[in-house]
Amino acid sequence: MDITEKFPGVFLINGRLHTLNHIPSFAPFGEQLFKRKSKEFRPWDPNRSKAAAAIMKGIKYFPIEKGSKILYLGAAHGYTPSHLSNIIGPEGVMYAIEFSDRPFQELLPLSEKLKNIVPILADARKPELYDWIEEVDIVYVDIADPQQTEVAIRNCNKFLKDCGYLMLTVKTQSIDITKQPKEVVREEMEKVTDGLLSIIDWNMLDPFEAKHGFIVAKK
Ligand SMILES: C[S@@+](CC[C@H](N)C(=O)[O-])C[C@H]1O[C@@H](n2cnc3c(N)ncnc32)[C@H](O)[C@@H]1O
Repeated sequence: MDITEKFPGVFLINGRLHTLNHIPSFAPFGEQLFKRKSKEFRPWDPNRSKAAAAIMKGIKYFPIEKGSKILYLGAAHGYTPSHLSNIIGPEGVMYAIEFSDRPFQELLPLSEKLKNIVPILADARKPELYDWIEEVDIVYVDIADPQQTEVAIRNCNKFLKDCGYLMLTVKTQSIDITKQPKEVVREEMEKVTDGLLSIIDWNMLDPFEAKHGFIVAKK
């Protein structure tokens, strides 16, 4: 059995990504858990999670680690948040913003189990609505909004610590369907740079997420 730690808390087991479960037998999305000695690994599907897709596509820098504080915009029902929750562990915290009531209702029971997730029903375009949260190490953005880079920068200006990281998914088809996806991602990177963050790495997520990009930038 070949187990490699790709990034802190992210494991490649027989070619498939996994994170380490903190709650025994917890498989919120019906996953088949892999047990090895006292450890339990939960598969992380790159077809369901852009962060997992970015890792499978060879992103070189993945700044989330044990104890990280994350502001997550677009938490939906919590698939990717549940894995990032595993990576940051009980020492970390994730403020999970979602503005749609239906996925938020599914996020609630998940956050009751994963105590490091703080679910917040709010619009990420209005960060003043949750300005009680603390400064964070990471702003992770997956809201599939044409203005999402602007929203990301606004949230970074308000909550991201100096030298913290922005992790930004780019759904090119919701920004400009007339341009090549890579060109759209390049334009979004220019906006990120104009927002006073430096691009650290980026990649395209095909075939896991067609016409999507993933950007990692540092404040
Ligand atoms: C692609 S889904 C997120 C999937 C999730 N990040 C994952 O990987 O498991 C995008 C989510 O962003 C939410 N969203 C879109 N615009 C938003 C906004 N302005 N504020 C908060 N949530 C938003 C949508 O309701 C949707 O649930």
